[in-house]
Amino acid sequence: MTAPAKSITVIAIDGPAASGKGTLARRLAAHFDYAHLDTGALYRAVGLGVLRAGGNPEDEADAVRAAEHVAEIDLDDPALRSESTGAAASKVAAIPEVRRILLDYQRQFAATPPGNKRGAVLDGRDIGTVVCPDATHKFFITADVETRAKRRFLELFGEQGTAEQYARILEELRLRDERDMTRATAPLKPAENAHLLDTTNSDIEAVFEKALSLIRG
Ligand code: CDP
Repeated sequence: MTAPAKSITVIAIDGPAASGKGTLARRLAAHFDYAHLDTGALYRAVGLGVLRAGGNPEDEADAVRAAEHVAEIDLDDPALRSESTGAAASKVAAIPEVRRILLDYQRQFAATPPGNKRGAVLDGRDIGTVVCPDATHKFFITADVETRAKRRFLELFGEQGTAEQYARILEELRLRDERDMTRATAPLKPAENAHLLDTTNSDIEAVFEKALSLIRG
């Protein structure tokens, strides 16, 4: 007799850059002891792979070659977090073949979370809409762009940052939002049945508590 398939809880969290989705995803994964996948890190790894190979992130052949070698990039490399890697990530992410290559890995992670966990939390741009349309719970996290730019600025430069660095980050986030929301394949948008959470005036604790209460129903 085969054991019945274990039912896996999947929590999908989408939203624009620096909205707080990654922090919320990590908190929920730790709380429920679920596996967590930061899908943005995969796109960042592809973007970084292209830059390191001296390629152009908007060139399909360069981007596809990097996507095929994505497993060779250390997902803890600090270079993944820079805004220039973020910009390259959002360029490769607009190429349908790159998205197709990364899709199987993400779906596999959700279906059989590593560590034999009973659930998975995935955060990104298209988790509730494309990667896991049948997710158990879906959230779409937003915040106004100035608040998100301040968060990213503090994350990257701490108290040492300059006004020019802040202005550059704000500009880069605006460009990335625009590119992510207007691309033809898997654009950033809330799934129809996602809970919308605006974090502009809420700290992570309040957002975490709100998400928990929605999950518990
Ligand atoms: O951390 P941050 O919110 O700045 O971005 P990220 O989640 O690391 O994602 C970097 C870029 O990858 C995004 O701007 C998207 O263009 C792309 N991405 C995507 O297209 N689909 C995903 N599921 C995750 C990220």
